[in-house]
Amino acid sequence: MTIKSTVAVLGPGGTGGLLAALLSRSGHRVVCLAQERTADALRATGITVRSPQFGEFTAAVEADTALREPVDACLVAVKHTALDAALSRVPAAALGDALVVPLLNGVEHPARLRARYRPDRVAPAVIRVESTRVAPGVIEHGSPFTEIDLAGDEVPRARLDALAADLTAAGATARVAEDETAALWAKMAFLAPFALLTTRYGLPLGEARTRHREELESLVAETTAVSRACGAPAEAAQALARYDAFPPGARSSMQRDAEAGRPLELDAIGGALLRAAGRHGVPVPVTARLLDELRAAGHPFG
Ligand SMILES: NC(=O)c1ccc[n+]([C@@H]2O[C@H](COP(=O)([O-])OP(=O)(O)OC[C@H]3O[C@@H](n4cnc5c(N)ncnc54)[C@H](OP(=O)(O)O)[C@@H]3O)[C@@H](O)[C@H]2O)c1
Repeated sequence: MTIKSTVAVLGPGGTGGLLAALLSRSGHRVVCLAQERTADALRATGITVRSPQFGEFTAAVEADTALREPVDACLVAVKHTALDAALSRVPAAALGDALVVPLLNGVEHPARLRARYRPDRVAPAVIRVESTRVAPGVIEHGSPFTEIDLAGDEVPRARLDALAADLTAAGATARVAEDETAALWAKMAFLAPFALLTTRYGLPLGEARTRHREELESLVAETTAVSRACGAPAEAAQALARYDAFPPGARSSMQRDAEAGRPLELDAIGGALLRAAGRHGVPVPVTARLLDELRAAGHPFG
């Protein structure tokens, strides 16, 4: 018999809400940590998921405005722009021996979490999914896949394996990545050119990659060079081939945020790339220019 775990989910939005519902449906105890209004809604109606992969279902979850008891794992699924405010809901003392599993894009947040919580319990994850919170407790999952790479070089391997097994049994495809830096940069190196180019020009990927081909190639060359300097393997030709294989209508989540007037994760993606480039002396003129242009267009660098 499988022993079911208790999982806290900080920020039950597109990614967090989907995983909270899947874990609850597969029998785990799930406590969502959210703002008061959202916590009330989740307690009243649970989380409804509409998905091509999982169908439509509603799962009951517990909800609170702060973590008040030890759990087995705490998934952190807020955006970077809300990270500090949201973390105040998770006091280190309440966590016990729990794994802290951030699902955020970017490469700098693990250090922030390790400064706050037990470093050997912070297990950064990369999630490949397209999932949107359309209302508190209502999640539209658009992609026919939900893939998670769990990392954490100092985290006991058995803990990562157990969480990956729980997530997989719940319906995601989860695996343990051998190298945290490589896992985080693999996502970053793909995401940064896609997000910056599509957001800067307000175009879906198909048009952006043909009308701004030279810039895309430069962005990819710059990002892969920074990734390699940080110790993560990256191939520009391979990255370009992946963009070309994507459906032409694909839009980045940064672009969707820009269109909806929401704050962008510009600092966590573009800013982090510039800082890493600066540390390693890698020139990134096209990335820097696009970031300047995005800022000039009124997108704060936060
Ligand atoms: N969505 C995707 O398809 C996807 C795919 C890959 C990676 N990612 C990454 O995953 C991370 C999360 O993105 P997301 O799309 O899941 O974000 P999201 O849909 O905006 O969800 C964020 C959640 O955080 C909650 N929140 C905001 N401030 C909070 C606070 N102070 N305390 C507690 N909860 C708070 C929001 O609450 P309310 O509901 O109350 O507003 C919302 O439910 C980002 O780094 C993103 O880049 C997302």
